[in-house]
Amino acid sequence: MQESQSKVDSPAAEAANERGTSPDFVLENLRRATLMRLASVTSLEELEELRVEALGRKGPIAQIGKEFGKLTPEQKAALGKLLNSVKQELERAFREKKSRLEKEELAERLRREWIDVTLPARGVRPGSLHPVTQLQWEIEDLFTSLGFAVLDGPEVETEEYNFDALNIPPSHPARDMQDTFWLSDGHLLRTHTSPVQVRGMRRLGPPFRMIAPGRVFRNEEVDASHEHTFYQLEGMMVDRNVSVANLIYFMKTLLSEIFHRDVTVRLRPGFFPFVEPGFELDIQCLICGGSGCPVCKHSGWVELLPCGLVHPNVLRLSNIDPDEWSGFAFGLGLTRLVMMRYGIDDIRQLQGGDLRFLNQF
Ligand code: DAH
Repeated sequence: MQESQSKVDSPAAEAANERGTSPDFVLENLRRATLMRLASVTSLEELEELRVEALGRKGPIAQIGKEFGKLTPEQKAALGKLLNSVKQELERAFREKKSRLEKEELAERLRREWIDVTLPARGVRPGSLHPVTQLQWEIEDLFTSLGFAVLDGPEVETEEYNFDALNIPPSHPARDMQDTFWLSDGHLLRTHTSPVQVRGMRRLGPPFRMIAPGRVFRNEEVDASHEHTFYQLEGMMVDRNVSVANLIYFMKTLLSEIFHRDVTVRLRPGFFPFVEPGFELDIQCLICGGSGCPVCKHSGWVELLPCGLVHPNVLRLSNIDPDEWSGFAFGLGLTRLVMMRYGIDDIRQLQGGDLRFLNQF
């Protein structure tokens, strides 16, 4: 191992050399250096490396052992004793260090992987109803208590139900490619829940009362107040002598239920081909009480509920005699109402699926 030093030729150096390569010296050095390095070992891997280096088959102890043959019996005995004692001392030191490291490693692992087995299990987190669903169910409860049936209609509709049977002429702008999603087979995604009126009239026949909540679609440029997909709740009552007074009664009942207080309403004329007369029902602004604020655009009123008396053509187109029967209808913007109720200022939140938003309801 120290052959390179055998070239040194000064007597002093030679003596030093002799000492430097003498097995006693090498062993003592090895013992001390190894014990010192052992003290700073911090992992089992490092420990194993050091062990192989010091005690392994290519290590100094094995090397010295190989040179035994050249020694006299006395030298052999003396060196053998020394060799064994160093070897045993080191092996013991390694064993002790190993068991200490193993203990430390275990303690560290226990600390890292500690779990509190007394904690209650997390379990399945229950979901909650979407605010639109909550309001829809509230309104369904109210209307069923007033004798209304809850009807469902398809989201993919025929042109007849969505437009023609509602007295919407072919020239009506709502049929335009710009705000209707047409399917290639001539069907369309319903642009409102009003087609369910037609289904109700034809299925139930007069007299009847029905509501129809559901999803509707328009080809909108999406922004804070426009969505391509939103919710409406349609209502219709057909009976003898149904008048605007009946309409107002039901609308006021609906609104006080939703807002949990009496609301002041007003009717303005509004045009919809399937009602005559048609109205926009406004409520007095609930934020400012009618004195004017940003929510009502300083008018004191908020437009909420288009409605009217069913147009005789609409009744006729579904085989109901307008001389005998009359009715009212309304189309509540469910999405809009939810936004009003909770003060949500961006419609996109409602379909965004963000749990931080949804968990609030
Ligand atoms: N369907 C209309 C729309 O989506 C809303 C509507 C207006 C429905 C008047 C009605 C009604 O039932 O009477 O714009």
